Amino acid sequence: MVARKPLIAGNWKMNFDHMRAIAFVQKISWILKDAKFPVTDVDVAFFPPFTDIRSVQTLIDSDGLAFAFGGQDLSPHDEGAHTGDISALFLKKLGCTYVIVGHSERRQDHHENDEIVAAKVLAALKHGLVPVICVGETAEDLEKFGPSAVPVTQLTAALRAIPADAEIVVAYEPVWAIGSGKAASPAQAQDVCAALRGVIGREMSTDAAASTRVLYGGSVKSGNIASFVREKDIDGALVGGASLDAEEFAKIVQFPRHVIA
Ligand code: 13P
Repeated sequence: MVARKPLIAGNWKMNFDHMRAIAFVQKISWILKDAKFPVTDVDVAFFPPFTDIRSVQTLIDSDGLAFAFGGQDLSPHDEGAHTGDISALFLKKLGCTYVIVGHSERRQDHHENDEIVAAKVLAALKHGLVPVICVGETAEDLEKFGPSAVPVTQLTAALRAIPADAEIVVAYEPVWAIGSGKAASPAQAQDVCAALRGVIGREMSTDAAASTRVLYGGSVKSGNIASFVREKDIDGALVGGASLDAEEFAKIVQFPRHVIA
């Protein structure tokens, strides 16, 4: 069995300018230091707005902090006449490890379909970024098709043409749970994450299915993180609102102290 290192990722969405970003990352690092929590058993990643990334990179590098970071989106193109878009090349050059692809807010606000998401996944991989591929059903989908059908279809499409040995992260984020304060139940999230692991097995390889981290996202807080990561197929969380509160996010990062195996 491959041991999957948990990943706690904070998606800041459109919050914090670069000055607040610096103060925030510094605060998290102090809280974890004071709590004597070594960031070795858990990967921690921040997803700041593009305009903050350089500042976050400089702080992490100069203070030798054990945090990774990434972009919230990328262009499917390398460069050229695409006003407002950001290339994987630029993100890689800034030291990004990850990039979020296909977040439901991009699917909604920017009409990103499965085809665009698949192209972005390939663009990320081409330049050595780990795509964090987001999938999830709306409340309407849930009622019509049940919890796994739409996420499974979305992930199958996103992994079309992907190399069998690519490193990816998958995040199951039910749209109805995002920002609503109503998280999925751990059992339901586990069922969908297991189905998504099945898709990884089919579209990539059994090795990839065993080693790929599948996260849950949607109203994750310090009070419920342990119940999710305790599930067999859930390897961490993609956190929105609670990732903007340093004390709360630091508690989520320290979940191993609260999980009784
Ligand atoms: P919340 O944690 O605010 O529900 O957001 C989840 C999310 O969309 C992370 O990408």
